[in-house]
Amino acid sequence: MNNNNFMKHNSQVFVLPLEHIQIHPQVLSISKPKKMDHIEYTMEKYKQLMPVLGNLVDGTFYITDGVLRYEVAKKLGMPTLKCLDASTTDKDVIRVRMTSNQRSKMSYMEMATYAEHTLGVIGKSQGKKRKSWLGMEAIEDDDNFGLAGKDLYELTCHLLDLPIKASSLRKLMAVKWFEDENPGNNFGIMSGLEEGNYKIDKAYQLVVDFNFKKNEGYTEIDLYPIKTENYEVIHGSIEDITLPENMEIDVIFTSPVYYKLRRYGDDPNEMGWEKTPQLYAERLVDSLMTPYNRLKETGSMFVNLGETYDKGRCLAVIEHVVIEMVKRGMFYVDRIIWKKDANKPISNQNHRFQPSYEVVLHFAKSKNYYFDRFRVKKDDIDYKISRGCKDYGWDGVNYFVPNFYKQLRTVLSENELHDIVTVQTNSSRIKHVVGEHHHPATFSQMLPAIFLSTFCPKPTVDYKPLVFDPFLGGASCGRTALMMGYRFSGVELYEKNVETSKRILAESLKEFEPRALNQIEAEMVYELVA
Ligand SMILES: C[S@@+](CC[C@H](N)C(=O)[O-])C[C@H]1O[C@@H](n2cnc3c(N)ncnc32)[C@H](O)[C@@H]1O
Repeated sequence: MNNNNFMKHNSQVFVLPLEHIQIHPQVLSISKPKKMDHIEYTMEKYKQLMPVLGNLVDGTFYITDGVLRYEVAKKLGMPTLKCLDASTTDKDVIRVRMTSNQRSKMSYMEMATYAEHTLGVIGKSQGKKRKSWLGMEAIEDDDNFGLAGKDLYELTCHLLDLPIKASSLRKLMAVKWFEDENPGNNFGIMSGLEEGNYKIDKAYQLVVDFNFKKNEGYTEIDLYPIKTENYEVIHGSIEDITLPENMEIDVIFTSPVYYKLRRYGDDPNEMGWEKTPQLYAERLVDSLMTPYNRLKETGSMFVNLGETYDKGRCLAVIEHVVIEMVKRGMFYVDRIIWKKDANKPISNQNHRFQPSYEVVLHFAKSKNYYFDRFRVKKDDIDYKISRGCKDYGWDGVNYFVPNFYKQLRTVLSENELHDIVTVQTNSSRIKHVVGEHHHPATFSQMLPAIFLSTFCPKPTVDYKPLVFDPFLGGASCGRTALMMGYRFSGVELYEKNVETSKRILAESLKEFEPRALNQIEAEMVYELVA
């Protein structure tokens, strides 16, 4: 977190007569004359917008940051200055000064604090209520710029040279307002913003959600829990975690890191960068053994993999993995081709065909793995549901059908258990919210759907089968599992992906629509397999 002194002491602004103010001797020793026209202009027009920083010692304030404002105040004959005690130790004065001179970016807290101050000064609003002035009575109304008005917000951005627009500043002010109103809260929305976990839009959305839930009477608020009755996100490396003792998995579906294809972050535990494909295969299979050992006798494991080429040579990564799995005694069922529409084209210098598929390797715990052969009757009820529409279902009840189920039905009717499955990647990827970490390698949420429909027992009122993904990423598989009525558990190395996944899983639970699922089920024809 950005722990600079300004943030720690932002509530201690006080006004001092100029004769009690001096430039800190250490700063004086290194300061050079600078142009001060622009500061003179704004201070003359709007008075002092930002407090000077320094140390208050025995009634004298020693400036460490704000020398120009002090010089201008003297020149203009201003009697007082707003000061902020940063209590910098003598040892740190030069370092803090240098850093402040080099600082090219304000922290979000600084932006919000300066802006609040500036908005107040410009509008001479000291007498008015801060809340209505800034437009915070209805935090969720992002058009509400309060009595200050959008123009003053815009002017503030301009004067403070903020790198954001008025609408974002208003959202940032809402976050600050929320933090000020809930002192000692542990939500850390502003810290998340400072740490780059999300952007202003997302931070603002968290505040709006929080307020909504508070008004609904929630006493304990966890916006996106890491664990509920239906799902769990395990944060850590699959190589280190221990699964709960009584965990029994019905299906593992995963898309692990491919060999030397993409960096997800800088954690040394990230897999995929081993010296050779053989070492990669050994490490990958070692880590897959953890959930595989918890598979039920009827369970299946699906591993989606792509190939890697090096200077025109195919590294046979897929073959290495298959052989390693078989060596460990896994029951190898099949290699399914996932025909993709959106593979990255290779350059003409590579003398091979354009890539258009990946594989899904199917392993089982035993030959008794669960299997349901089905097809969707195409001539049945017209299942026209479009995104966001209210659909009048067969039972006459007006309810909302998420787009997921329309895609599910289409994908299931197009993939009648052939060993080449076709899933359009782009149209069925999970949509991300603005400001959230966008996972770079999500697969289609419909890919696991085909396999779960066939190889995972149907959920009943008594038992919801458990689906597991050891390389969770952006939780595509988890969303599919929850939307199909299963429980889900997944492991992910990076905090940023854990955050995104928690949101996706929590929202999927809310979107789960059993009636839509039943409708698809009702259209399926099963053939008993001997
Ligand atoms: C290909 S992505 C998974 C994408 C996922 N199927 C989806 O659609 O969102 C692989 C994920 O494995 C994670 N990962 C890498 N090394 C890991 C490790 N040692 N333990 C757990 N996760 C790891 C990466 O951070 C990345 O998010």
